[in-house]
Amino acid sequence: MSSPEVRRLFLALWPNAAVRRALVDVQGRFPIGIGRAVDAGNLHITLVYLGSTPAERQACIEEALAGIAIADFTLQLDQLGYWRKPQVLWAGSDGVPTALLTLVDSISKAAAQCGCQLDTRPFRPHLTLFRKVRKPPRDLSVMAPILWQAGDFALVESITASSGVCYKILKTWALITGAAGSASQ
Ligand code: 2AM
Repeated sequence: MSSPEVRRLFLALWPNAAVRRALVDVQGRFPIGIGRAVDAGNLHITLVYLGSTPAERQACIEEALAGIAIADFTLQLDQLGYWRKPQVLWAGSDGVPTALLTLVDSISKAAAQCGCQLDTRPFRPHLTLFRKVRKPPRDLSVMAPILWQAGDFALVESITASSGVCYKILKTWALITGAAGSASQ
């Protein structure tokens, strides 16, 4: 079967195995039944959501992203939060590295130049741990920090299957190594 011409795409930070294990440990702290735990292999931080993207636009975005030159950074996940409307429980960071904001800004500009209509809401970096959390969890005390050395970012396809959603990494781009810092704003 030929590949589809339109894909549901987003750009993301994808955790390495150690960070993923630590996040699964955090999920394990919550009672079964709190909501639907995101599968370990699906855990990520969305940088920019592109939505339905025709192949030509995807090619334009990939070319533009190849020109991004931003330093790698360390992200400290040290917060848990709950959003009532989307019913998600998430992990996030008290201090967002400047390089992360620059990265999102650069990706957004590249995508907009290629004709993407992007979400205009401010970027709130978060990693969804549970979905369909109907009641605010009682214990959202500070979590033990998880240090995440972010060395690349990924173009990801969201695929809806009968078993649920799965994410397929299509391509990654390296950040510039050696300049890692956790400077935040
Ligand atoms: P979420 O984890 O807060 O739900 C793939 O759907 C990823 O893109 C998810 O991580 C989701 O964030 C994010 N995303 C951002 N905007 C979205 C939108 N309008 N529709 C679907 N997913 C969106």
